[in-house]
Amino acid sequence: VLADYGISPTHGFLPDVLPLTRLPDPYYNKWEAIVANLQGLILSKRLRGVVDRLPVLSTIGLEHDAEWRRAYMLLCFMAHGYIWGGDSPSDRLPPAISVPLLQIADHLEVPPVATYAAVCLWNFKPLFMDEDIDNLENLATLTTFTGSLDESWFYLVSARGAPIIPLMLTAIAAAREDDATTVASCLNTFAERLDDLSTLLQRMHESCDPHIFYHRIRPFLAGSKNMAEAGLPHGVLYEDGSGTETHRQYAGGSNAQSSLFQFFDIVLGIEHRPTGEKKPSPSQGEEPERGRAPPPKHNFIMEMRRYMPGPHARFLSDVQAVANLRDYVERRSSGTDGNRPLAVAYDACLAMLRALRDRHIAIVTRYIVIPSREVRARSRSPEATRRKVNLATASRQPRPQPQGIAFHAPEQEAAAADGKKSGSGGLKGTGGTALISFLKQARDETGEPAVEEW
Ligand code: HEM
Ligand code: ALA
Repeated sequence: VLADYGISPTHGFLPDVLPLTRLPDPYYNKWEAIVANLQGLILSKRLRGVVDRLPVLSTIGLEHDAEWRRAYMLLCFMAHGYIWGGDSPSDRLPPAISVPLLQIADHLEVPPVATYAAVCLWNFKPLFMDEDIDNLENLATLTTFTGSLDESWFYLVSARGAPIIPLMLTAIAAAREDDATTVASCLNTFAERLDDLSTLLQRMHESCDPHIFYHRIRPFLAGSKNMAEAGLPHGVLYEDGSGTETHRQYAGGSNAQSSLFQFFDIVLGIEHRPTGEKKPSPSQGEEPERGRAPPPKHNFIMEMRRYMPGPHARFLSDVQAVANLRDYVERRSSGTDGNRPLAVAYDACLAMLRALRDRHIAIVTRYIVIPSREVRARSRSPEATRRKVNLATASRQPRPQPQGIAFHAPEQEAAAADGKKSGSGGLKGTGGTALISFLKQARDETGEPAVEEW
């Protein structure tokens, strides 16, 4: 049953017990006080000083899972505020954060960084208790780095779409019982829901400004993996006071950690290959190359499952084991007396999910690619060059801006993944992908299992 995986039929991957707005045990008041003033502390650059003086609190006062989840959310915001909230990034987390964060992450089966779970799933509250939480108009964010509406909106829009889960589990069960009418009806509803999600995604533009997103919000979601250029060549040291601690490296927060989209792919039988890997052509056949095994390629979408809460990731692999819709639809719709409406309904779901990914690419262009180009153009302008010279002659160092450089991967990475230079040359997503080429591949793979010719 869904509850075994920490999933709710109505709220999906959002918890059934609403996120707490405060830890009940006053022992944790110091954490609550820091996070309540997070924006002010970041703005005045005093967060690091405050955290450095914070005692290491024990996790002993945390009881219910909702308390562990709030503690995780609080510490993740403190950790990323600490790392990214100064003139240059901090490559260490002091024990007051790292010691409890590591224990809590262990308990909740999540990595000790700001994941989609920390900033979206476990970080909202309803505005009106008697109204549905699947409605964007009834939601508020509990904690943000910036205090901006734009940041809240980004998190809230990212966390929608839950009731689709039971619908599609019903479809899988119906296919097992060869109930084609129910399967077709579930697929038709699913296609409509995916279309609703596309419309919802468009609402990002309503209240999230691309410049605020790019310059103010996004830098805080950055990770510590492949971040040498951003000033974290070894990742981040999670101090535990033992003297034997090592640097850790994690991907940054990304919606790619959303279990819901991976659920969609799994139920529809969509497969995502490692970035850069082309669809095998039929002439190559199924035969694996004999003699030498190809080196295992990095599959980002699979890697992101390790950033989901453990029970959610287990749910996905269990659903994967029973997902049968693609085969069922193909079997039932083939031949002269085949069930065509079934194939049409299935293909409509693929088309809708593909369209959703197309819109998402347009969002990424507006929110990341264009602002980054503006930054580069500005830094190349004669005015910028003059300013640099002036600063240099005045022997003042320009303030390092982690924002500006944090996401520039080596040019080759994007080019290699794309086969050619994409317009986003060298840019990286917070998750670490060569964003546009990665997202285009994911979009194209979405259409591949189509039953009928498109
Ligand atoms: C992946 C950016 C909003 C769903 C990604 C990636 C980027 C990105 C750069 C590539 C992975 C990485 O390296 O991080 C953005 C931006 C957004 C936004 C700039 C808004 C300002 C959303 C929303 C959703 C979403 C609202 C869902 C409703 C996904 C999914 C992936 C992804 C599912 C994984 C790739 C895939 O399955 O196609 N996003 N995103 N994103 N994003 Fe977004
Ligand atoms: N994954 C999103 C980005 O790269 C948040 O900005």
